[in-house]
Amino acid sequence: MLTTNTPAKRSKTETKTETKTGTKTPQDAIGMLTADHKKVKKLFKEFEDVADSKATASKAELAEKICMELTTHARLEEEIFYPAVRKAIADNRLMNEAEVEHASAKDLIAQIQALPASDPMFAAKVTVLGEYIDHHVKEEESEMFAQARKTKLDMMALGEEMMRRKEELSASNHAEGTGDPRH
Ligand SMILES: [Fe+2]
Ligand SMILES: [Fe+2]
Repeated sequence: MLTTNTPAKRSKTETKTETKTGTKTPQDAIGMLTADHKKVKKLFKEFEDVADSKATASKAELAEKICMELTTHARLEEEIFYPAVRKAIADNRLMNEAEVEHASAKDLIAQIQALPASDPMFAAKVTVLGEYIDHHVKEEESEMFAQARKTKLDMMALGEEMMRRKEELSASNHAEGTGDPRH
């Protein structure tokens, strides 16, 4: 039996290009942010699988990944995406709420990063962060992104700008030596 990929089926999935460092595949801003949302959701699920176990190293590693991903994601939104959308959609209430949610998430992230994974409150904090992000992401995707798509915003140009900033941020993260030493 043939198990090779059928070209017709592959072309559909190839629109979701994984961008690795160094490659500059153009991506639209909303596509990029939505891909981040999916990635972090998966990391939270992985965390839930070990949350009640004694796998302290796995918990620490996953939580650090989650915090790094979210920190970069929030910066891209705050520095580039949100200001552009705020101007385009004229819905300050929605944008203000999103920024307040970011501030609370960042506060929780700082608490998690200051805590050893062996702390009895560690898993609870990561779980609550997950619930919080889940709510925030739903609002972004169903309200903010939906409204932004109806405007004339150039999502490809915004995506390109965000991609450049993401590369800068990841380079400075590596230079600081934060993150998992195995990577
Ligand atoms: Fe956000
Ligand atoms: Fe987001």
